[in-house]
Amino acid sequence: MTKVAIVTGGSSGIGLAIVKDLRAQGITAVSWDLKAPTEDLPFVECDVTSEAIVQAAFNKTVELYGAPSILVNNCGLQFMAPVDEFPLEKWNQLIAIMLTGTFLCSKTVIPAMKKNGWGRIINVSSIHGKVASPFKAAYVSAKHGVLGLSKVMAIELAECNITVNSICPGFVDTPLMRAQLTKQAELNKMSEEQVATEIMLKPAYIKKFTSTQQVADMVRFFVSDSASTITGEAFSMTGGWGMGH
Ligand SMILES: NC(=O)c1ccc[n+]([C@@H]2O[C@H](COP(=O)([O-])OP(=O)(O)OC[C@H]3O[C@@H](n4cnc5c(N)ncnc54)[C@H](O)[C@@H]3O)[C@@H](O)[C@H]2O)c1
Repeated sequence: MTKVAIVTGGSSGIGLAIVKDLRAQGITAVSWDLKAPTEDLPFVECDVTSEAIVQAAFNKTVELYGAPSILVNNCGLQFMAPVDEFPLEKWNQLIAIMLTGTFLCSKTVIPAMKKNGWGRIINVSSIHGKVASPFKAAYVSAKHGVLGLSKVMAIELAECNITVNSICPGFVDTPLMRAQLTKQAELNKMSEEQVATEIMLKPAYIKKFTSTQQVADMVRFFVSDSASTITGEAFSMTGGWGMGH
């Protein structure tokens, strides 16, 4: 039977590449997002911060496509400000989307995976789940939280044939990354080119942005049988950022 996958934030950037790559493998991948993809792809409108909306999106997905056995918690956004100027509203929004959203979507989908006797949860965290950068208090906190939550779920679900792993990219060329480039240029009073080379790629040893397809390739590996004994891991895709100096 065809597997069904939910990809949160699957209508843009990394999520869109993951949806397309899973579909290329014959998996019915559905985007759960606030907005529809511009391409003709399965989509269920969802705001991952609301338990009632997530439950309704789950019911609609089961009705339209079947019970999901793969969940990619991917949606996210960035907001940058120094801690003493960080608006509480933005803090709450980022934590709600990236950490609480990962919890709510997992909580909702896990019973179907247990019933199925097989499941894969892949969380798109960030290198900021492992290390910090200035001005990113809420993002770094949410992404660190995702890695902690992933390990708890990995332990709880191991006996159910459900693995839980995280991907920790450095910078990936997407609309979210482009928006940051502009914001960092403003905060640091630099050109966007300077921000790319002197800030974003500075901690990386391989001075290249990761592509959305490369992240989708990592998801492809995690859903494959080759990864059936890998759980609770957080794989960096950063050109070496985070190894230490
Ligand atoms: N781009 C990078 O450099 C980079 C690096 C490391 C990690 N990440 C992570 O990868 C993930 C995807 O980022 P991207 O760069 O593809 O971003 P993107 O902005 O291109 O896509 C994010 C998607 O999430 C959706 N979304 C936002 N809030 C939502 C909500 N409440 N409910 C459902 N969907 C919602 C948006 O509508 C959008 O389609 C994020 O978690 C991000 O933190 C990105």
